[in-house]
Amino acid sequence: MSFTMEIKKKEVVICLGSSCFARGNKQLVKIVNDYLRDRNLLNEVRFHGERCFGQCAVGPSLKLDGILKERLDEDSIIAVLDEFFETVEK
Ligand code: FES
Repeated sequence: MSFTMEIKKKEVVICLGSSCFARGNKQLVKIVNDYLRDRNLLNEVRFHGERCFGQCAVGPSLKLDGILKERLDEDSIIAVLDEFFETVEK
């Protein structure tokens, strides 16, 4: 008999609604995917897209374990992901 610990995956949800998508999330999908791949996180994270979060005014946005991150761009998203995954080198 063997036990397997069920590890709850972190969840990254990117808004693929038309507003966020047109204003940057189209590029951020690739950046997030590259980030996860480069750090071997793809198996530990559930990364997927959803329709409009209803927060278009503060987009482009994504959710990290349900917490909304607003006004993201190609620079700020790395810091946001580093903070979430705590991989920043000290
Ligand atoms: S399109 Fe992203 S919050 Fe509306």
